Formats: sequence, structure tokens, C-alpha cells
Amino acid sequence: MRFVDLIVKKRNGEPLSTEEIRFWIKGYVDGAIPDYQVSALLMAIVFQGMDACETADLTMAMMHSGDVLDLSCISGIKVDKHSTGGVGDKTSLALGPMVAACGARLAKMSGRGLGHTGGTLDKLESIRGFNCYLSREQFIQQVNDIGLAIVGQTGNLVPADKKLYALRDVTGTVDSMPLIASSIMSKKLASGSDAMVLDVKYGSGAFMKTPEQAIALGQEMMNIGTALGRRVCVMITDMDEPLGYAIGNALEVKEAIATLKGEGPKDFTQLCMEAGSRLLMMAGIASDLKDARARLSTAVESGTALNKLREMVSAQGGDVSQIDDPDLLPQAACVTGLTAKTSGYIAHMEAVRLGTLAMQIGAGREKQDDTIRPGTGIVLAAKVGDYVQEGQLLAQIYHDTPLTGQWIRDFYASYRITPEAARRNPLIYKILGEETYTQT
Ligand code: URA
Repeated sequence: MRFVDLIVKKRNGEPLSTEEIRFWIKGYVDGAIPDYQVSALLMAIVFQGMDACETADLTMAMMHSGDVLDLSCISGIKVDKHSTGGVGDKTSLALGPMVAACGARLAKMSGRGLGHTGGTLDKLESIRGFNCYLSREQFIQQVNDIGLAIVGQTGNLVPADKKLYALRDVTGTVDSMPLIASSIMSKKLASGSDAMVLDVKYGSGAFMKTPEQAIALGQEMMNIGTALGRRVCVMITDMDEPLGYAIGNALEVKEAIATLKGEGPKDFTQLCMEAGSRLLMMAGIASDLKDARARLSTAVESGTALNKLREMVSAQGGDVSQIDDPDLLPQAACVTGLTAKTSGYIAHMEAVRLGTLAMQIGAGREKQDDTIRPGTGIVLAAKVGDYVQEGQLLAQIYHDTPLTGQWIRDFYASYRITPEAARRNPLIYKILGEETYTQT
């Protein structure tokens, strides 16, 4: 087989066979096929797409490119959650402890932020001493002991995705439905859980710009997961504006802690409750949605959910005094309030721009080796649909270095304030796959 023939085939819009996809992934991971040829194939896929069979074959080939985690020595149904990424998305930090406090076992491998989207590992590392890298044995032991672990990828999981994702990032080939679906699902399947909630975001801060695109991606991922015997629930959620109020690592940890105390933002709390209730049902812990929501509310009200976060932080070497007193988390050197220049309703906030602005002041990284400043970021004071008076606070900016004029101009450009009342998109647009757990 010659790799150039696969490139030509795909360029001409023909499907690749199972053998050809296996040849590609094996050859690329082994180093036999160079980046420049794979880049050409990726670009052909961006333009020509892949059918359901090719996407499933690619997912399987990537999943088996390295180790596949066996979680069978953890008793019960193991659940997982994945978000396609967004701005202010700190869901795992609150959702994990909430479902674990209700008896679910969440064995989660997370990633780092890149570009305008944040990463769970960076957020957790704003807690002093927190160790994201456990051995496979420690990871399994911790989930068995306390029902919860959130770690970086252990061992040699899906090396094909590591290479391909880095290449896609620099060749303009991230935005492709089959490439995103296979990238996400190969990692979810290799990390061994039985059931998962996939939060597929749409809007200005997400990869998928419209609900229709998000549904198509969600459906594709659900088909792959269910074909391999996993229970999969897909939530299509809004990412036109940031989730919650906080954007930035320690700031988001603080917001997650407030949410675990029942004092979190409405949208973020709703997302945790809805995703959490599906996880509890898929794990066979709750009989229906009402029961699931009641269990999650009790976990928050009784303090067991917050205590579960404490247990996880302690088990992974973190300083629990920062959970008990979030003011001990890293702080930025300066806080600057930016206020509305006109009175009116906030009609639009461009999440991608706000995420990029947070990244520019140190909350994220533009390049893989950039250093995070954990205390920096943005805390919004108002969101879409809210009325603001001229001079009223729009956001507090937490920064270590001076804000430039351009930065401040970009901040204001990410808002549209209108005299007419504006409506906020519903947070949850649609949920797919309810039958995978209501029939259990
Ligand atoms: N997240 C992933 O893990 N992979 C993608 O391709 C896009 C988002």
C-alpha cells in the first residue's frame, strides 16, 4: 500500500477501507508516514468528509494505537463525562464530586487548555501541590477508595491522537466532524468507562457554531459509543456566552467550590444537575430524573459533595486548606473593574473573544509551552439578557501585567449592548440518547 494513493483517493471523495485506515494510523504512530503526507490527507478529509464506517474505523484504529485501560477491577458502573470545550467550562470540578458523593464512580482523564478554551488539569493545578499524574494503579485505587479521580492521560493512551491533534492544530484541520468525533471517542473508549455524558457545545465559543452541527457531531459520537456497548448520553448546550461567571483557573476553582456549597451561578448549577442526573441514572443509582436530581441536591445541601472534592484534592496531594478557604488560592496582582459605556441590555457576549482575552493575560496558553498564571482571568458581573446602566460593572479583570489599550478595546468589542430587551439562549438545547439509560 502506498500512502499517496490514500491521499488521492480521499481527495477524489472516495471512502477509505478499514485496512487503509489501519495502515495510516499504524504507519503514522510508527513514524513510517511523515507529517507532510498526513497533513495532506487531513485536509482532504476536511473537504471531503468521512462516512459513518470510516469514522468508526478511524476511532477503533486510534483507540488501539496504544494502551486500552481496563477498569474492571473497579466495582460498579464506571462513568465519565466529556465536554467538547468552551469558555468558563469548569463542569468536571463540581460535577465529579457531586456524582461521586451520590455513589457513582467517576474515573476521568482530562486535558489542558489550548487557545481560548480552558483545561481541567490547569484548573486543578491552581490548587497547591495537586498532582494530576497518578500511575494507572494509583488511579484505579483512588476511584475504588473514594469514587473519584481526575488525572492527565496515564500511560500510552491513544498516541495516535496526541500526534494527530498536534498536527491538526497547526495545519488548520481541527474543524472536521469525523476528525473531532474520532479524536474524542478514541480517548473516551480507551479510558475504560461503561457510561458517559458528552457535552457537545455550540455557539461562538465552541468548535460547532450551530446547534445542528453540534447535534450531528453528538449523534456521530453516540453511534460509535453505543456500537461498542457503551451507554452514551449527549447534551447539546449553549456556548455563545461563557458558562458561569468565572474564566481563569483559580477563579473557576472558586466558582466550582461555591457551586458545591449551593451558591453557584444558575446556568452552571443547572448544567451540573442535568449532566449529573444522567450519570446517576446510567450508573443505575437513581431510578428516574426526579430521584437523581433529589440525590444531587441532597449531596450539595448536606456538604457531602464539597467533602468529596476535599477528599480528591487530599488524595492527589493538594492543599485542602485552599478548598476550605478559597481566598488562599492564587491571586492575581491587580484587579481592574471595567464598566458599561452605555445603558442597555446585553444582547451578545462573544465567548471566543473573552476566552482569548483571558488567555492573553495568562489564564491560558497560546502555545503548548506557555506558562499559566493561575490567579488571572475575568469574572463577569453581568450576562446576556441582563440590563446594565452606563458606568455599571461589566467584569472584574484579574491580571499580573498591565492591561493594554488594545486589550481593553477588544474586551468592549466582545459585547453588544442594545436598548431592546435581549433573550438568553436556553442552556440545554437538546438531549440525545435518553433511551440508553431509561431502559436499564
Ligand atoms: N477535543 C478533542 O479531544 N479532539 C478534538 O478534535 C476536538 C476537541
